Amino acid sequence: MAPKWLKKATFYQVYPQSFYDSNGDGIGDIKGVIAKLDYIKNLGISAIWFNPWYESPFRDAGYDIADFYQVAKRYGSNADAKKLFAEAHKRGIKIVLDLVIGHTSIDCKWFKESEKVERNAYSDYYVWSPLAYYRGSGKGDDYFISGWGPRGAFLANYYAVQPALNFGYAKIEHPWELRYDDPRCRATKEEMINVMRFWMDMGADGFRVDMASSVIKRDEGKKKTIAFWREVRKIFDRDYPENVLISEWFDPATSIKAGFHIDFCYNNFWRAGYRPEDPRIKWPQMAMAETDFTDPVPAITPAFELIQKTQKKGYIGFYSGNHDAARLRYYGSEANTIVKLAMLFTLPGTPFLYYGDEIGMRYRENLTPKEGGERRTGSRTPMQWDNHLANAGFSTAKKEALYLPVDDAKNAPCVADALKGKNATYNAVTQLIALRKQHVALDNDAKVELVYLKHRKMPIAYTRSNGKETLLILLNSSKDKVAVTLRKLKSAKALLTCGVSLADGKFTLAPCSYGIFSL
Ligand code: GLC
Ligand code: CA
Repeated sequence: MAPKWLKKATFYQVYPQSFYDSNGDGIGDIKGVIAKLDYIKNLGISAIWFNPWYESPFRDAGYDIADFYQVAKRYGSNADAKKLFAEAHKRGIKIVLDLVIGHTSIDCKWFKESEKVERNAYSDYYVWSPLAYYRGSGKGDDYFISGWGPRGAFLANYYAVQPALNFGYAKIEHPWELRYDDPRCRATKEEMINVMRFWMDMGADGFRVDMASSVIKRDEGKKKTIAFWREVRKIFDRDYPENVLISEWFDPATSIKAGFHIDFCYNNFWRAGYRPEDPRIKWPQMAMAETDFTDPVPAITPAFELIQKTQKKGYIGFYSGNHDAARLRYYGSEANTIVKLAMLFTLPGTPFLYYGDEIGMRYRENLTPKEGGERRTGSRTPMQWDNHLANAGFSTAKKEALYLPVDDAKNAPCVADALKGKNATYNAVTQLIALRKQHVALDNDAKVELVYLKHRKMPIAYTRSNGKETLLILLNSSKDKVAVTLRKLKSAKALLTCGVSLADGKFTLAPCSYGIFSL
């Protein structure tokens, strides 16, 4: 059984270093988030996902953890974390942490012990090849960092500074590999279960699991990986039934089988691609972009099929953006972006709003990469609270001390203006979230059915229903005015519209418009 609150949950992703700096050192922190909880609550959010806040040398912005049991000094202390859990819960907000299950930093105590020749409790926490020059087979993610001290070479999971934790192999090919059911691999798993318990016992409401599919190596078909996670889910069901398990797997059909309540949808279906790291390649256009208009059919059909396949068993996490992808606003005008947000908040699944997307924060091109962020850096800049204050109110530090530069463009959006009603994106987002809360047909598990979807044409139309109530949603993300007559439609009552009108059964949609009707 999935926790009941997921039926209505809307998530907000906080990148802690960029959200709000409470002590003027230029870096966002936990006390800063506590100070902004009311802002988040007023958006209509039910849960926050935090990017990693653990002790780290930050060579991958905290996804390289040195101590899984300790909040990084720059974010505060474990006592602050506890305070945050309490303050969030007082407001009915859940806190979900990031669990980097697949690897640690080379600075982690476990790794420092493991690299010693003398046997100790951590010797098998990582995969070591005694061949000092070994670089792995190059197949899949099998890449080793060679020449690492007396133990030879170690298996890396992502960057070279992120040694893979050893959960074993589904299929053994080399003498140094352990089978997934080896008791030595069991010990690594127990440690991570311990980490989960540690934070949940303190007050955390679950985890977003980083690279969740990467735990067991050479696992074709992911059978052993699925079994690995099912066991974790059992622990949740028994001891933490109200807590959520979210995967970064990007394959909901598999991950939901593995016991995750939520998984993300890779292409996010209005995003034609995700994260090409080659700086010479322009980040892919949105499938629903207003310029360079591409076909909505191949973009939307697979996502709807995926919804049908996984609904009732789990939720798909559609998102406005995240710390790894270009911001939504990069792909279209303000009006076009709002149409995409209207879609995000009227689809089934658990919507994830990336901090700043509610005011239309922009992707910052050509920033100097920060902490291994590479091109992702442009989506990680400080939240713009108030453009009338220094550093847009993010921090009182000197400009040079800021974690990343604040968008200081004249027309950069900010929260202060939004709260005065001067930000169209914010207006739309708050209205959409409120509407979603009010209507059972918009519940995260309520049905969806396509009504109108045509090649190279707008609008896109679908219904949402739960048996008691049916809503019709129409979206036009193009620059053209379009019209559509939906047969069999007797009457429709407008609930929330922006540029859509209905007369004699014919809907007319202005460029970049959306409408939600009750049938
Ligand atoms: C995930 C994270 C990303 C990180 C990587 C390695 O994809 O979202 O930010 O760099 O895992 O941990
Ligand atoms: Ca700070």
